Amino acid sequence: MAQRRLSLGLFMPNCSNMPSISTHEVDENQWTYASNEAIALAAESYGFEYLFPVSRWRGFGGDTNFLGTSLETTTWASALLRATSRINIFSTVHVPLFHPFVIAKMGATLAHISNDRWGLNVVSGWSEREFGMMGITLEDHARRYERTAAFVEILRNLWSQEAQPFDFSSDWYQITAGEASPVPRVPPKIANAGASHDAKEMTARLCDWAFISTPSIPEVGAIVSDINTRATSHGRTVRTAIFPFVIWGESRDQAEDQLQAIIEAKDPVATENWLHDLTAGSGSFDSFTSDMLAASGGGVHVHGTAEDVAEQLREAHQLGVDLVMLTFPHYLKDLHRFAEHIQPLL
Ligand SMILES: Cc1cc2nc3c(=O)[nH]c(=O)nc-3n(C[C@H](O)[C@H](O)[C@H](O)COP(=O)(O)O)c2cc1C
Repeated sequence: MAQRRLSLGLFMPNCSNMPSISTHEVDENQWTYASNEAIALAAESYGFEYLFPVSRWRGFGGDTNFLGTSLETTTWASALLRATSRINIFSTVHVPLFHPFVIAKMGATLAHISNDRWGLNVVSGWSEREFGMMGITLEDHARRYERTAAFVEILRNLWSQEAQPFDFSSDWYQITAGEASPVPRVPPKIANAGASHDAKEMTARLCDWAFISTPSIPEVGAIVSDINTRATSHGRTVRTAIFPFVIWGESRDQAEDQLQAIIEAKDPVATENWLHDLTAGSGSFDSFTSDMLAASGGGVHVHGTAEDVAEQLREAHQLGVDLVMLTFPHYLKDLHRFAEHIQPLL
């Protein structure tokens, strides 16, 4: 089978301090809607195909209060979908915070106004700090994904004319003769992030995209082939995406110096809070060090010269990755530089 081509996307800065937990050269206004719209339009003009936001409800303390100011991602997508015309835009939704009927209706509306360019990233939640603030109990890991599976199955039915009306029974949702209209012309794509057994199994069975956190590019190969094997066993195909944190300079030393400057200015309190919740609540980041997380928030580091970066992205593609959702220290400036220096090499 011919290999699918590598698609480009952005993991967007709709939250403050994206993507580094560091005080090094912070752009205070990057999270704003005006900034996100400018980045989205530039990405679309360079042929990027996907934008994904982060969903956060609270910051992580320290000097940065990492991700503490954030734009909600369905309303954010609604505006961006009207500002753009070709690029696909996802929303990131915490399953325990919304009833699936609400997201099904929002999704059908967003699909309708965007000519089917909207997609959904379902996240099960992992931060005690966030859910605790709301009085919501973080369920145990396996139960979390059982709930997310039920949520996705209900969405699939609400986005299918043939499936309606339907009954659905689970520990979380009791649906009787469920129906919704309009039904999107094309069912919106559903992504799930996570590299744990539970995440991979749920994604393989029910989702279209798997978002993978990987500590290094070579290590992504085993994760991708595991997800592909699981998807095949369900008679399905799942596409895979990673989120590289990309830094490049005239020389490798220059890129390394920039990375080290970010790490040296790391916010120890926010990094510790992030690391604590992430490793307590998820199975994906156990082999990340505090410095790796501080620089990229959990994205894989890809740095060096422009050629080095292109080579590492090509390697990810050869290992089966379909999409790279890039993050940059300075999104707009770096996006223009990426289009000029690296895209021609890909
Ligand atoms: C690319 C990517 C994006 C994610 N976005 C969010 C997010 O916006 N909000 C959130 O609470 N969790 C987010 N997560 C966390 C996942 O939903 C999941 O909880 C985490 O990866 C741990 O999953 P696991 O324990 O199943 O491996 C993201 C993870 C990845 C890899």
